Amino acid sequence: MRVLGIETSCDETGVAIFDDQHGLMAHAVYSQVDIHAEYGGVVPELASRDHIRKTLPLIRQVLAEAHLDAGEIDGVAYTAGPGLIGALLVGSAIGRSLAWGWQVPAIGVHHMEGHLLAPLLEEPAPELPFIALLVSGGHTQLVDVTEIGRYRILGESLDDAAGEAFDKTAKLLELPYPGGPELAKLAERGDPQRFRFPRPMTDRPGLDFSFSGLKTFALNTLNTALADETDPSRTRADVARAFEEAVVDTLVIKCRRALRETGRKRLILAGGVSANRRLRERMTAAIAAEGGETFYPPPSLCTDNGAMIAFTGYQRLRAGQHEPLIFKPRARWSM
Ligand code: KG4
Ligand code: ZN
Repeated sequence: MRVLGIETSCDETGVAIFDDQHGLMAHAVYSQVDIHAEYGGVVPELASRDHIRKTLPLIRQVLAEAHLDAGEIDGVAYTAGPGLIGALLVGSAIGRSLAWGWQVPAIGVHHMEGHLLAPLLEEPAPELPFIALLVSGGHTQLVDVTEIGRYRILGESLDDAAGEAFDKTAKLLELPYPGGPELAKLAERGDPQRFRFPRPMTDRPGLDFSFSGLKTFALNTLNTALADETDPSRTRADVARAFEEAVVDTLVIKCRRALRETGRKRLILAGGVSANRRLRERMTAAIAAEGGETFYPPPSLCTDNGAMIAFTGYQRLRAGQHEPLIFKPRARWSM
């Protein structure tokens, strides 16, 4: 079975083809970063318009790369939510129409399930069951995964997602959009000893998160230090480092707790923030020290992409699920 996947939930147009014999046959991602950079964040209307321009050419491109004709696709998967509604409508309408024209089943995929299953595209793939830490711009969730399609949310952020906290703090530090990776780069030059940020909600039981206080803490620390500092660029790097350490530490503490409480031995990380190098180093070491194993998606599949949607769509179609002609993209959708 061969599935075309289309991702248009935010500011990346992703298209890919997954084949159950050959794995990922082709995948392409077009990032809209340059379009949104001058506004300091994603402009939904511009995102939708650009997805319209890019989706069909990317579909043509991956079909050509995989040396396939349209008639050789057995199903079309598209991101049905959550995300920006206008952006979702583009991928959904194109995906649904192609499936109808090609007379193959279509399946609307949950974006976060896509992220969650992306580590299964890497070799060696983790065996089930496992705990998943989903850390993206819109979500921070700990999920107990007993089988594909069976997800129990163990904890989630009560306010900002981890990626959102990275992006907002990056803005305070006057870093360009997209802030997360820029902040991580700046943090490499920072002194981890100079400032100490809190580790929110780690001193009480439970697996929920709260990251919004960290950006306020960063703002206050920055203002106080900049007031009597001669080297503001060093201060910015030190604040970035302290912020990153706090987020990483908090995520590590909660993941360790989730494994202990459930007795699971495998942890997977997924979503944009799972590309963070410091997080990977610290998490892998901490989980190994407890006798557990940590898995990640390939770096190119941490952030939004079509491969995870094609793969998730394949899993759904294989399980005999697809949807009627009437479809409904959802801006908000719990997994
Ligand atoms: O999964 P994703 O591409 O889109 C959503 O579904 O939200 O995640 C994007 C988020 C952004 O907040 C971005 O700043 C963050 O992931 N991110 C990072 C890094 N790379 C991406 N955060 C910290 N360090 C990174 N290296
Ligand atoms: Zn995402």
